[in-house]
Amino acid sequence: MDVNRCAFDVIQLNTPLVESIRETIRAQGPQSFAWFMQQALYHPEHGYYSSGRCAIGRKGDYFTNVSVGPLFGQLLASQFSEIWERLGKVNDFVIVEQGAHDGQFALDVLEFVQNRLPEFFDALHYRILEPFPILEQQQRPRLEAFGDKVKWPDSPEPFTGVHFSNELLDAMPVRLISEGTEKLVGLDGDKFVFVERQVDKTIFNQPALDCIDEIAANLQLGYVIAIDYGSLNEEFERNVQVRSQHRNLDSPFEQIGQADITMSVDWTSIVERAQANGLRVTGFTDQHHFLTGIISQFGWGGSPEPPAGDWGQSPLPDSRKANRELQTLLHPEMLGRVFQVLALAKNVGPETNPLAGFKFATESPFR
Ligand SMILES: C[S@@+](CC[C@H](N)C(=O)[O-])C[C@H]1O[C@@H](n2cnc3c(N)ncnc32)[C@H](O)[C@@H]1O
Repeated sequence: MDVNRCAFDVIQLNTPLVESIRETIRAQGPQSFAWFMQQALYHPEHGYYSSGRCAIGRKGDYFTNVSVGPLFGQLLASQFSEIWERLGKVNDFVIVEQGAHDGQFALDVLEFVQNRLPEFFDALHYRILEPFPILEQQQRPRLEAFGDKVKWPDSPEPFTGVHFSNELLDAMPVRLISEGTEKLVGLDGDKFVFVERQVDKTIFNQPALDCIDEIAANLQLGYVIAIDYGSLNEEFERNVQVRSQHRNLDSPFEQIGQADITMSVDWTSIVERAQANGLRVTGFTDQHHFLTGIISQFGWGGSPEPPAGDWGQSPLPDSRKANRELQTLLHPEMLGRVFQVLALAKNVGPETNPLAGFKFATESPFR
């Protein structure tokens, strides 16, 4: 959605959340869009995510890679296993997931590793960084069978392994700043409107940059894999997307607290921040090429050679459902080109071969 053209005359709910946003604006004047987005998504009681109202999947508001089915987690588990091999099969290998929603991705990964990669399973610990108690309450019963393997630390801790996120960065609050003008959220009567003011600031995605700082500070040895939708440099458009029940809404002022709000990720600023924190880019590609690379080595367990034995049988789950999942994840007109994958490394020597996911990537725009 281009916020310059967004329709303001929209249905605005009169919920406690909407009332509390109005109260703040009446008392303190127009507020940044980042503040508004924080309220709409993460208000402690009424936010779309923090209230547990967010629903992902067919019966929810939008699809993610995770909601397509278990195949996504299974493929990523295979990539994590290769990373574990590359780190010398360390004993305490930690997957830190942030933005874990209901814990489905963690379940898909852990079940697959337990069934197919037992040596890796023994070394594996899973940590979920979850700021919202209501989401942790959904995750815990789903992952109960894994006992102490899964933990919810109160705050981020140093770790060796991989930090993983799928559609985390696009859900972080942003300011609407463009060419020295910032759009603030104000009121015209009871109606929310954008109000413009001049600013010298250019940083619009501070929470996402802070998140990178935090990951870099805690990762001792290993990788960061972030999957999201976004673009690079001058192609980057500061467009906000608002989604409810699989429809794109015209305005962020529609269905406040009942709809998802995201902005595409500015990969360039994310990478610059990561590099400033000592992280090295080891891969950047679209999801189609990333997953195709993993599939091509699926079942190799990190080895550059195909496995002996029953190689020749497809290692992918062989069912119509799995085939449909694969098509949805890979097809360029479905999710294959919508998402990009960024891999960063810390304290890992230069690789002779790229990670499986970047085997077919074209040259990275990042040095
Ligand atoms: C678009 S959803 C993606 C959910 C899930 N990863 C998936 O792919 O289905 C974004 C998630 O990020 C979470 N989130 C936002 N900011 C966060 C933060 N600072 N730490 C952890 N999770 C966060 C939200 O609560 C929400 O569950």
